[in-house]
Amino acid sequence: MIFKQIKSGGDRNFAYLIGCQISNKCVLIDPSPDPQICEIEVEKTGLELVYIINTHSHIDHIAGNDYFCKDKKIKLITHPKGNGDLKIEDSKEISLSKDKNSLNLMFLYTPGHTGDSICIKAENNLVTGDTLFVGKVGGTYTEEDAREEFNSLIKIMKLPSKTIIWPGHNYGTSSQSTIETEIKTNPFIKKLNEFEDFIWLKNNWAEFKLKNNIK
Ligand SMILES: [Fe+2]
Repeated sequence: MIFKQIKSGGDRNFAYLIGCQISNKCVLIDPSPDPQICEIEVEKTGLELVYIINTHSHIDHIAGNDYFCKDKKIKLITHPKGNGDLKIEDSKEISLSKDKNSLNLMFLYTPGHTGDSICIKAENNLVTGDTLFVGKVGGTYTEEDAREEFNSLIKIMKLPSKTIIWPGHNYGTSSQSTIETEIKTNPFIKKLNEFEDFIWLKNNWAEFKLKNNIK
């Protein structure tokens, strides 16, 4: 497997290239805001780009879709509430080719930050979009959304502890993490026992950050 985190401009956005040398195919996740940076990375691999995948429908994650998908040869994969050509089911796996040894991607519904948020698992890597950042979690607007995010984070934390976390933005102290590290260090993940504690932290995050010297 080829796995590459790409600094794609904007608000410290990360795109991801995931490729498979057996099928000679690859996908790009959230190739935005600057799709050309991502295209160069695809060219370097020599692999055929077959899918664009969106972790959710915020503009800084979908702005590059048309650059790749205009002629419909490259298909867009999203949550059913998104704009995709292929709408993926929860916990569904897709293979990059018919070869049984080619790479599988697994999709997990993780609503909260948006209703159409998904995470994408490739081997022991989890691309988390804006659901989970290193040391932080995605913003939510309502208590209902926060409760959905709370449940989604509990779902993710059940994955194997060595699973590597790859966020949608470079907002943390490093560009990647693991489930194990987030359980130990992420203040929001530490509050997953009680929703009331989780929502309290969301509502008091600015103050909490200041007090604990978190940037
Ligand atoms: Fe977002």
